[in-house]
Amino acid sequence: MGSDASVTICADANGLAESTAQLVVEAANEAVEARGRFMLCLAGGETPRASYARLACSPYSARIPWDRTWIFFGDERAVPPDDADSNYRMAHEALLSRVPVAPAQVVRMRGEDADAEAAAAAYAVALADAFGTRRGELPRFDLVLLGLGVDGHTASLFPNSPVLLERFRSVAAAHVAAAQIPERLTLTFPVLNAAARVLFLVTGAEKAKILRKALDERATLPATMVRPTDGELIWLVDRAAAALLQVGQAC
Ligand code: 6PG
Repeated sequence: MGSDASVTICADANGLAESTAQLVVEAANEAVEARGRFMLCLAGGETPRASYARLACSPYSARIPWDRTWIFFGDERAVPPDDADSNYRMAHEALLSRVPVAPAQVVRMRGEDADAEAAAAAYAVALADAFGTRRGELPRFDLVLLGLGVDGHTASLFPNSPVLLERFRSVAAAHVAAAQIPERLTLTFPVLNAAARVLFLVTGAEKAKILRKALDERATLPATMVRPTDGELIWLVDRAAAALLQVGQAC
């Protein structure tokens, strides 16, 4: 594990949700203080749901400057936003429908568009517009939340995918034959590794083996290749997922 990475072990999924909410509050206030706004990238899948629900409640929700907060997504499946498999829908149900963030400050990936490459390009333009980056510059998120798949994928960066080799585009269309929904949109490594802070959320015994492997910096798993070039990397895991680890501090 790289020197600027840390592993924090929470008692259980509830403890991890509390710690995640607290870390989001800290990152939000730090960003608004320093740059006048908070650029947050949400993870998909199921793990983050409890953290989003916690963030939507007292005391955390009142501690977030929602009027200065912008919400983005790390990846999206090729489904409409009201589909049960939509990452947007999960975030909307658990968090976005329950906090006063302006809809114009929630930048959704249009996974439902038939032309995935065009949708990826459109999201890259939306990122550039929101961050005010010029051609060739990468958006620098204040905080990126990520999950870990049992095969070591993160966002929709899956093992052996050509998208792992992307060095210039910030968003790409991915075809993931092994995934339940093969067509995906995903942020790429250049953007993830440009972030000021990346927070992996991992819970459950079924993730113990892949977590141990992902934390070995010699591994070539997509999750292991997330290493912010000038930022902090935090692994927030519960005891069940940490069962095979020798590292980590209690949260
Ligand atoms: C997705 C996510 C994906 C997720 C992992 C872990 O669209 O599925 O972006 O990368 O974070 O698959 O998913 P769980 O949290 O459901 O285990």
